[in-house]
Amino acid sequence: MKVITTAQDPQSVNTVIIPIQGADKAVIGQLAHKILLEAERFQQDFMGEAGEIMPLYAGGRRYLLLGVGEKPTFADILRSFRQLAYKWSKQLSAQVVVDWTLGNAPADLQSAADAAINGLVLGAYQLGKFKSETPEQHPFAQEGAEIYLLTTLAPTQELSLALQQSLVIAQTQCRIMDLVNAPSNYKLPSDLASWASQSGKEHGYRVETWGQEKIKAAGLHALLAVNQGSAHPAAFVISEYKPAQEGQYPTIVLVGKGVTFDTGGVSIKPSANMHLMKSDMGGAAAVFGTLEAAARLQLQVHLVGIVPSTENCVDGNSTKPSEVIGSYAGKTIEVIDTDAEGRLILADALSYAVKHFQPDVLIDLATLTGSAVRTLGYVAAAMFTHNDELADKLYRAGWDCGERVWRLPLWDLYKDDIKSDVADLRNFSGKPTAGAISAAKFLEAFIENHPAWVHLDIAGVAFTDSEVNGGKAASAYGIRLLITYLQSLTKSN
Ligand code: BES
Ligand code: ZN
Ligand code: ZN
Repeated sequence: MKVITTAQDPQSVNTVIIPIQGADKAVIGQLAHKILLEAERFQQDFMGEAGEIMPLYAGGRRYLLLGVGEKPTFADILRSFRQLAYKWSKQLSAQVVVDWTLGNAPADLQSAADAAINGLVLGAYQLGKFKSETPEQHPFAQEGAEIYLLTTLAPTQELSLALQQSLVIAQTQCRIMDLVNAPSNYKLPSDLASWASQSGKEHGYRVETWGQEKIKAAGLHALLAVNQGSAHPAAFVISEYKPAQEGQYPTIVLVGKGVTFDTGGVSIKPSANMHLMKSDMGGAAAVFGTLEAAARLQLQVHLVGIVPSTENCVDGNSTKPSEVIGSYAGKTIEVIDTDAEGRLILADALSYAVKHFQPDVLIDLATLTGSAVRTLGYVAAAMFTHNDELADKLYRAGWDCGERVWRLPLWDLYKDDIKSDVADLRNFSGKPTAGAISAAKFLEAFIENHPAWVHLDIAGVAFTDSEVNGGKAASAYGIRLLITYLQSLTKSN
């Protein structure tokens, strides 16, 4: 896929997408004039709703009027384009023009074009990698696919660079969607580790992967306790990207939950939706994707990714409720519910991160609780932090890129939930209330009072909001959010 910004309409490309904000009569009139259509009826019929598509045919070309909604956000534009690419997959060919020269240029062309490209690429994403007959490739996924961005503004280098970056992010998102959509027997912890190693090799960043022995030797006891019931060894992946030039860069450490399948363990989950728990490594995937994208975009930050990975399974060796386990930090944990496994493996990864990398900012992402889904649905991740400035930056980044976060409290009033009579902590309150918050309070006990820690509970947003599979598929949530956040850091520096 290539993106070409141009002021010259490539007449040989036969599909022209015309994004329209609201029901912009002027644009519709101009278009009618250009393709010699009768304006009035067509001005009446096009409602300008987000995602509305009206095909028109003239002069050997197909014009797709695309509603992006009134005052569209980044997310509105992205979604409209994504729906178009998906719904028209059978008709489209590998070249398409996006025409922004009809008085329909958005206020921020770069951001709108970024959203459009992202939508076109994600809309071409396909499931079905495991069918014996490979489904026909989407035209935009073919080699040689081209998006022409038609604009009256003189195409600047800055714009074309930004759009190349947009493509990099979208491609990374597709690779990450493959990983999260993969069935759990194709993504064992060792497979996640290999994925990261290969990415590091290909894109020039360091990846260290630990197997069971190294994990034991290092004393990641909580990760080992969760892994006990699995037939497959755990993995611990440390990725590190540094800008090529020597210099002073902030160190940002990302930690991601890499549970490749969550049965719940002995506290077993009901079977109805258990298959969706193949996506319980959505946090790890976001961390992998952000590392890969940051390296490809050569962001000016020192970025570290830490992923603890295991299955959570049922077996004679499984950790059972009531058992007391250790942790890397040395704290003992009473396991009340083996389905609260994410916080256990994150506890080890977080204390490892603080001890070994002295992060300026520490962010973890995890599909951690059903409570976060019940609270915010599929619309936003739950954000927890003591740091107001960081909360503000992430909130803004999320709003700007359509991967929203919403803050919930971390008050000590919730601390009793994780107090244990027999160990230093317990992993579950036993109560049906404030589950996302008490999970966050549990993690807080392992960050050594780090002043710039953020926990993002992405249970509702990691596997959802999609055109494919009845709306339930990987979203690659987190990559764009974190890249937007990291870019905002380097801009203000
Ligand atoms: N992986 C789940 C959380 C989850 C739920 C992710 C729905 C995505 C969608 C997590 O490990 C879990 O099982 N959490 C329990 C914790 C409880 C036992 C304290 C939950 O939220 O029910
Ligand atoms: Zn669980
Ligand atoms: Zn889980």
